[in-house]
Amino acid sequence: MKLIEVKDYQEMSKKAAEYIIDKVCHHPTITLGLATGGTPIGTYKILIEDYQKNGTSYQGVTVFNLDEYVGLTGENKNSYRYFMNEQLFNHIDIKKENTNIPRGDATDFQKECNRYEELLTKHGGINLQILGIGNNGHIGFNEPGTSFNSTTNIVNLAPSTIRANARFFNQPEEVPTKAITMGISTIMKSEEILLLVSGESKKEALSKLFNEEINENFPASVLKKHPCVTIIADKAAIADLK
Ligand code: F6R
Repeated sequence: MKLIEVKDYQEMSKKAAEYIIDKVCHHPTITLGLATGGTPIGTYKILIEDYQKNGTSYQGVTVFNLDEYVGLTGENKNSYRYFMNEQLFNHIDIKKENTNIPRGDATDFQKECNRYEELLTKHGGINLQILGIGNNGHIGFNEPGTSFNSTTNIVNLAPSTIRANARFFNQPEEVPTKAITMGISTIMKSEEILLLVSGESKKEALSKLFNEEINENFPASVLKKHPCVTIIADKAAIADLK
């Protein structure tokens, strides 16, 4: 794992955006795996600014997002489909039909998991996967204890994840308790992974990532088995590494 240390959230976002833009320019039909949450918002903002200023085109790009809440339609403001449309897709020239997110309003969720996994496999997989990390070490919504062999599946969100994500909802009770997420093995099949980590609240997770053995109780530890992982982390997040 290669660690790039940056000053703060703004610098992390800038570095990450530059990294993605460079890949898109060199590989205009790239498949990106994208994440939601607070961490990548600044990166997406810079991608939009760059699109407006420099015209980097996403017409040939395909996106597969990591996860979606069970029970929310794409019109629900808290759904990850809505988030991605608002934070990125509506502001660049990506074709909507090339943006894939698991359906939170599916009627048969097992079928939806299979459909998503097969679609991604048929498409040829992900070239560059962007990840955030949960305080408990989750990647995607793969909570501690998830098998490293897991593929796209339905998960129960950990109480700490529900608490952390309540900040996006009006009431904590509104946070869904289940999600559909790419599995650990799905994520690990990506050619390359870019993990973004910012803020004091992530310093314990980042320190565990570097110091703990690879084990299923700390899902992100699996990244140590991947041949091509870059981590961009800010000062506050790396505080416990020193
Ligand atoms: C989001 C996702 C999650 C987040 C993680 C960190 O699609 O899969 O793993 O990356 O929960 O969230 P933030 O960035 O809000 O701290």
